[in-house]
Amino acid sequence: MSKAGRDSLLGNKIAAGLLTAGLVLWGANRIAHIVVKDEPPQKPAIQIAALPSAEPAAVAPAGPESVLPLLAKADVPKGQAFVQQQCSTCHTFTNGGANGVGPNLYGVMGAPMFAHTGFTYSSAVKAKAHGRWDYDEMNEWLYDPSKFAPGTGMSYAGIHNTQARAEVIAYLRTLSTRPLPLPTADQIKAETAEHGAPVGPAVATTSVAPTETLSARLAKASPAKGQALFQEQCAACHTITKGGANGVGPNLYGVVGAKAFSAVGFTYSDAVKSKAGQLWTPNALDAWLKAPMAYAPGTHMAYPGIKNDQARADMIAYLNQNSSSPVKLP
Ligand code: HEC
Ligand code: HEC
Repeated sequence: MSKAGRDSLLGNKIAAGLLTAGLVLWGANRIAHIVVKDEPPQKPAIQIAALPSAEPAAVAPAGPESVLPLLAKADVPKGQAFVQQQCSTCHTFTNGGANGVGPNLYGVMGAPMFAHTGFTYSSAVKAKAHGRWDYDEMNEWLYDPSKFAPGTGMSYAGIHNTQARAEVIAYLRTLSTRPLPLPTADQIKAETAEHGAPVGPAVATTSVAPTETLSARLAKASPAKGQALFQEQCAACHTITKGGANGVGPNLYGVVGAKAFSAVGFTYSDAVKSKAGQLWTPNALDAWLKAPMAYAPGTHMAYPGIKNDQARADMIAYLNQNSSSPVKLP
């Protein structure tokens, strides 16, 4: 073998070495590239989620932020001004006011949903009506009416600003001789625990699976499962048949939609007295059954609560069946 041959072989080796190194580098680059590419496209996802809203800071892909913590301090005159400007073309707000394009809204908070006398509602909202207007339902409706009830006759984009929504709802609340009670500290706590802190890092919000709303859970609730759980965990203290005796706890026939803590002949604890007379909406029951002792500290209902979200919806569906006038659930 000649010197030149060996040299050329060496040259080949060097070339091959360089090529290999190049390939490895190129490959590493590709891999790095792919890895980066495969990461969730965080920026665009947020922009898509926030698209329906005009506000740059809106990051609420799972639905509206809760207004519960804001209601007590909400500026009612501001809510009224907003309503005059944006809603009064279609709605009147005085007691006995005429229906217009939309129904008269006096007393709407706490009233049965989409049921104002003399107004013909779209079938879209009729299908969504269940129980009475509580703060959570009104919050979702006003956030985006056509998301709440696709096809609704209310041609209004919705109030995406949470503070403004709270002000409007606080104002609607005052249109009544007996305004709905404001949410308690415990209801607010339960709400923020369920939906997470109102303000969080944007990226985390997009990657966390949204909690299912009570409406969604009720829509697929199993009263039979609720009944089984009732027999196992509640029947020791409660009867549920019509006219059944009070036991350690009150008889529960017809409790859904009824006035809370008002069963005839039962002596309630002082802990629940301040809540007596509020309506047992599905939302209120959901909060109570999740953690009775957080809902009413000192309650005599010595029961830790139903922690499973779906099991609570099953229970509410079962309770609702045991009634002469069940409320309409989704
Ligand atoms: C363009 C007309 C229009 C505007 C503007 C409008 N609404 Fe409505 N609203 C309607 C109609 C129509 C309905 C009935 C919905 C249906 O039948 O699908 C309705 C229904 C409602 C309901 C349910 C009432 C019930 O009986 O259960 C509430 C609450 C409500 N609107 C509040 C508001 C508020 C608050 C605003 C302003 C922020 C507003 N609306 C703006 C037309 C309007
Ligand atoms: C250890 C007994 C006990 C158990 C177990 C119990 N409860 Fe109660 N419950 C009570 C008492 C006592 C009250 C009245 C609360 C008070 O006075 O503080 C009550 C109140 C209630 C109320 C409100 C009734 C009203 O008149 O407004 C509901 C609803 C209710 N319980 C549902 C349930 C369900 C559903 C279960 C099972 C998952 C359950 N309870 C388990 C004792 C019990």
